[in-house]
Amino acid sequence: MVSIDPSVLAGIDLSQMPAHVACVMDGNGRWAQQRGLPRIEGHKMGEHALFEAVHGALELGIDWLTVYAFSTENWKRPPDEVKFLINFNDDILLRRQHELHELGVQMRFVGRRDWRVPKRLIRRMDEASALTRNNSRLVLTIAFNYGGRAEIVDACKSLMAQGIDPSKVDEKMLAKHLYDPQMPDVDLMIRTSGEFRTSNFLLWELAYSEMWFTDVLWPDFTREHMAQAIYDFQNRTRRYGGVHA
Ligand code: IPE
Ligand code: IPE
Ligand code: MG
Repeated sequence: MVSIDPSVLAGIDLSQMPAHVACVMDGNGRWAQQRGLPRIEGHKMGEHALFEAVHGALELGIDWLTVYAFSTENWKRPPDEVKFLINFNDDILLRRQHELHELGVQMRFVGRRDWRVPKRLIRRMDEASALTRNNSRLVLTIAFNYGGRAEIVDACKSLMAQGIDPSKVDEKMLAKHLYDPQMPDVDLMIRTSGEFRTSNFLLWELAYSEMWFTDVLWPDFTREHMAQAIYDFQNRTRRYGGVHA
């Protein structure tokens, strides 16, 4: 099995790992365009990079990895691309859920399950979650039809539907109404493709995360990039609004 280059690993303190790493898997379309290929060829190559990220997380001992697969805004794309992305996500789950299961990965999903998400894909997500629910090496959360604003709106709706007294609502309570109440705050957000924005990813959970950006396009992302991001993360000082001693 390929593993992280020892020279990259050497500088990393394995006892000080971020608990939760989140990736905006961006740049598939440009990767394809640079090669004169249709955009969907870039998405296809993104599957390899996703597994690089998973193996990187497993090797490094990260507990939570969350990846942005499809945003609430991605429905604006040409219908053929949207259709491809839906079928491709379904197909990856079908083809690779057993491999992830054998690796000890627990799969979870966040996002709005509205009429736009085909029932077949919802069933596939439920099947993958059920298959892997007792695994504990890594929690891999796939954000599909996910928007950070939509998540906060849905949490507010859930609070109101339960008739909770507004004076009782605090940050802790709202967090319990997010899509996955067990998901910890993100420690490190990685975005590929040279874009410096969140694009509506995990707005609540990103409040104090460290951000790591690279020009690398997602299909070229490897576990070494993950290790590099963690090395840089470990050399930052997080203050959470306080004063560093
Ligand atoms: C990210 O790659 C994948 C999804 C958004 C589904 P893009 O498709 O956004 O690639 P670029 O940004 O156009 O290169
Ligand atoms: C964010 O990338 C969404 C995903 C990676 C799924 P986009 O490519 O959609 O974001 P923008 O449009 O560049 O902000
Ligand atoms: Mg993009």
